[in-house]
Amino acid sequence: MPGIPSNNQEYAVQTIDMRVDYGKFVAVNELCLNVPRGEIYGLIGPNGAGKTSSFKVLATLMEPTYGDVFIGGIDISLHPEEARKHLGYMPDLAPIATDLKVWEFLDLFASAHGLNRTDRRSRIEECLNKVSLNDKREEFCKSLSRGMMQRLVLAKTLIHRPSLFLLDEPASGMDPVSRQALRNTVRELANEGAAVLLSSHILSELEDMCTMVGMMSKGILVDSGKISDVISRRSSEERNLVISSLGNPMPLYEFLNNKNGINQIITSNEDIIFTFKGKDNEQAHLLKEIIEAGFLIKELQERKKSIEQILLEIDSNTTIQEQEQNQ
Ligand SMILES: Nc1ncnc2c1ncn2[C@@H]1O[C@H](COP(=O)(O)OP(=O)(O)OP(=O)(O)O)[C@@H](O)[C@H]1O
Ligand SMILES: [Mg+2]
Repeated sequence: MPGIPSNNQEYAVQTIDMRVDYGKFVAVNELCLNVPRGEIYGLIGPNGAGKTSSFKVLATLMEPTYGDVFIGGIDISLHPEEARKHLGYMPDLAPIATDLKVWEFLDLFASAHGLNRTDRRSRIEECLNKVSLNDKREEFCKSLSRGMMQRLVLAKTLIHRPSLFLLDEPASGMDPVSRQALRNTVRELANEGAAVLLSSHILSELEDMCTMVGMMSKGILVDSGKISDVISRRSSEERNLVISSLGNPMPLYEFLNNKNGINQIITSNEDIIFTFKGKDNEQAHLLKEIIEAGFLIKELQERKKSIEQILLEIDSNTTIQEQEQNQ
């Protein structure tokens, strides 16, 4: 982009200490987010975590209280118009209350982005195809169902071929078939080199769609990275272990229940399931102690945590930290 000074272009999105305050309330707290090009990044967190507030700043709809934001290397506070050309934003709630027909609605956005008449016609067809709404081309927007409106808004987001997609809860209101189509579209966009930043509460959906994930809780990005890295990082702090022993598991249950670093212990048939806070050598030492105490162990297994379990733990940890700070 001649004339526009740009920062690190390797990232589709980069935020440095981005903060969003509503009065005295801190909704987004010094967010440092790096999303490389070609990645599908899922920002996940419970209601009120600060996802939508972050998306609005990235989409240039709201200024951050402070901090720097770069879209494809462009500083959005200096060049918001230029940054907007590169991004497509799909808001979380997007009822379309216009008297326009579906194709007219898309034509409006295509014109706003400077496409000529011939290009607009073919691009509208392509985008309607991608979201499977071709048969609704001549219908009025107002008559579409909620899931169809979501798909139409996604089509609008695609129209100017942005290199960064900001999709806030794109799957909400969509049926399983539409969700599958959304997943395919998102993957296609990433394969073509775009970056996709999306948020969702449907955690299992994110796990198999995203290449990267950020865990947000109460305005703080608690962890971020490749999904497998986040899972193993979180699992290494406290891991889920399952021990299968021969015979009555209760004596072993009592033995483990008195040990340091063991939490959430339960029995299930012959198995004992618990979380263990410790490093590899401490786990090996624990196993040695159990065997030396005379228990007959069939198997010791580590169960990887799901993204869902990790998120619940993160949220309860930030609540505990908040309570401690308030005391
Ligand atoms: N305009 C506003 N004025 C005051 N507070 C706001 C405003 N918008 C959001 N908030 C507050 O900021 C916090 C973050 O809201 P935000 O909408 O960013 O969360 P979210 O992660 O998108 O949540 P959800 O999953 O429910 O969509 C919430 O506590 C919310 O009440
Ligand atoms: Mg939201």
